[in-house]
Amino acid sequence: MSDGIEVRRLGASELSAQLDALARVLHDCVAGGASVSYLAPFSLEQARAAFAGFAAEVAQGRRLLLAAYSDGELVGTVQVILALPPNQPHRGEIAKLLVHRSARNRGVAQLLMDAAEDEARAEGKTLLVLDAVTGDAAERLYSRLGWTKVGVSPGYALYPDGRPCSTTVFWKAL
Ligand SMILES: CC(C)(COP(=O)(O)OP(=O)(O)OC[C@H]1O[C@@H](n2cnc3c(N)ncnc32)[C@H](O)[C@@H]1OP(=O)(O)O)[C@@H](O)C(=O)NCCC(=O)NCCS
Repeated sequence: MSDGIEVRRLGASELSAQLDALARVLHDCVAGGASVSYLAPFSLEQARAAFAGFAAEVAQGRRLLLAAYSDGELVGTVQVILALPPNQPHRGEIAKLLVHRSARNRGVAQLLMDAAEDEARAEGKTLLVLDAVTGDAAERLYSRLGWTKVGVSPGYALYPDGRPCSTTVFWKAL
């Protein structure tokens, strides 16, 4: 707990109970223009379906999911993909770091990332990788948290409105 923010890992049943709250965070991020896999128009129902899919993978132990709460309200989340090819058992991938716009610039993402690293380490992971939109707040965050920048893939993905964005790939040894 720090500054009224609590981060905890959600098990499969707790995650199922939090699908609406997680969907609200994803929906808000896409509405705010974040390039996190989805294009506009993107509904709350689509966001809920996305998290229902992640929940199924959490139930299978294929990924882990953390949630951040501010005064009891779910305001942020991050995932670690654990299930990777047989020759990469030591590696994990950070995915879907999302903080509701109303809770930004208070260190929520930093707390989520610190906890994600701890959980990945506890799962036996020694290497994490991720990618981020080049030039966005997330890229600054990962640089600040000691991630090493590999490089930039120009025009790798699209913003929700269809404009192209470049992607920066990072790694971090645990
Ligand atoms: C990227 C994202 C997760 C960051 O979330 P966040 O909780 O706002 O992140 P933090 O608060 O840890 O850091 C954000 C900024 O607030 C600043 N900050 C942190 N704590 C602060 C505090 N207590 N007071 C003032 N500023 C603070 C940080 O220094 C940072 O500044 P910078 O952007 O100028 O570098 C969020 O913007 C988001 O959800 N974006 C949309 C989805 C997305 O792009 N996800 C990343 C996918 S790779």
